[in-house]
Amino acid sequence: MIPKDLHEKLQAHVAAAVTSREAAVDVMKALQAHYGWLTDEAVDEAAELLGLSPLQVEELATFYEMIYRQPVGRRVIHVCDSVSCWSVGAEGLLEHLQVTLDTLPGGTTADGMFTLLPCSCLGNCGDGPTMMIGETLYGRITPDSLRGILETEARRQRAEDRSQESEDR
Ligand code: FES
Repeated sequence: MIPKDLHEKLQAHVAAAVTSREAAVDVMKALQAHYGWLTDEAVDEAAELLGLSPLQVEELATFYEMIYRQPVGRRVIHVCDSVSCWSVGAEGLLEHLQVTLDTLPGGTTADGMFTLLPCSCLGNCGDGPTMMIGETLYGRITPDSLRGILETEARRQRAEDRSQESEDR
């Protein structure tokens, strides 16, 4: 169950939207951020907030690539596999990620830090190969830059976790 203040914040967000569907992605993302992924409980809560049926929320959730209906790692890596990135080495990037993270597409690293997901165009076609981690878009990725990106993202996550732990105390 989400905290009262988050529930109220989302209620206000839905009330300010022209239609509840307009607020659906924001609500699902907020619930996903709270639970780590869009759990069945989160689908029910989203349905209640949006005045939709759980099935309608499920339909929306499965339409959007950035909404996860299964558990994922602390950081999700979306690797573009659309044509512009493919033409400048997206396949090699995906292979390199699989080796570096020791996981297959759709999988999560043993430490739970990263989930690797191929995805369609991220709108950064001129600067491929492209991937997105959280809200951060990375382009023109090389094997050298990839290592630094993964280290930075893992460090940020650990810092966020420490900050959250101290807030919870
Ligand atoms: S084709 Fe990769 S960002 Fe558009």
